[in-house]
Amino acid sequence: MSARPKVTVQSLLEMKRRGDKIAVLTAYDYPTARVQDAAGVEVILVGDSLGMVVLGYENTLPVTVDEMVHHIKAVARARPRALLVGDLPFMSYQAGVEDAVRNAGRLVKEGGAEAVKVEGAQRVEASVRAIVDAAIPVMGHVGLTPQSVHQFGGYRVQGKDADAGDRLVDEAKFLEQCGCFSLVVEGVPWKLAERITAGVSIPTIGIGAGPHCDGQVLVVNDMLGMDTAFAPKFVKRYAALGDDMARAFSAYVDDVKSGRFPDLDHSY
Ligand code: KIV
Repeated sequence: MSARPKVTVQSLLEMKRRGDKIAVLTAYDYPTARVQDAAGVEVILVGDSLGMVVLGYENTLPVTVDEMVHHIKAVARARPRALLVGDLPFMSYQAGVEDAVRNAGRLVKEGGAEAVKVEGAQRVEASVRAIVDAAIPVMGHVGLTPQSVHQFGGYRVQGKDADAGDRLVDEAKFLEQCGCFSLVVEGVPWKLAERITAGVSIPTIGIGAGPHCDGQVLVVNDMLGMDTAFAPKFVKRYAALGDDMARAFSAYVDDVKSGRFPDLDHSY
């Protein structure tokens, strides 16, 4: 069987034109990226959700460029056929264009990312344009943008009234004009996500945005059920790894304490 072709920014645009759905997942380490790539995931996003699901921060704001580079490097070692996108963390692109280009460059040059993702629209215009000018593909992110959690007053669905919905459609079109090759649409009503998707010619990747985006992304820890206490409506669980791990760890502790492990079958 021949290896599937490398996914590129151009092939994602062709997928949108053909109406083929795009499967995206986050990953933060080498073994997860290998399994995802073998399963046919088309885009692997090293998201700054890293901060919450792997590093134990309360939100994504403390994540640093160094932390992103460290985890993007691990994922890049899987040499995925999937396009590898790295998140630019909070305050790595907001304060100025030079920062933005230098930090995007670090994710690509040191980490091995093939594209970067930024949150926001008009207020990050200069950074987006400068990163694109530096020949680094940019994925936009509109709607519930977690780096704005304090401004939103929590993780709330965005674009619920007509004006806010129109603004988000404009933001999506604006990001396309700025040169973004695709767009994450997070936490918006599904009808609005459908409008956004119809309004741009770049692929939209939904999360908590209903069935009409061109693709879908989930945080890998959420879809694997690593944290049983976290069960928002938009997450579909494909496994219950948190429960499986808890059972396995307890069984191991019992075995060690009772002397059942190691037995002679596991000894030299
Ligand atoms: O940080 C992240 O994982 C993300 C996705 C949820 C889109 O931005």
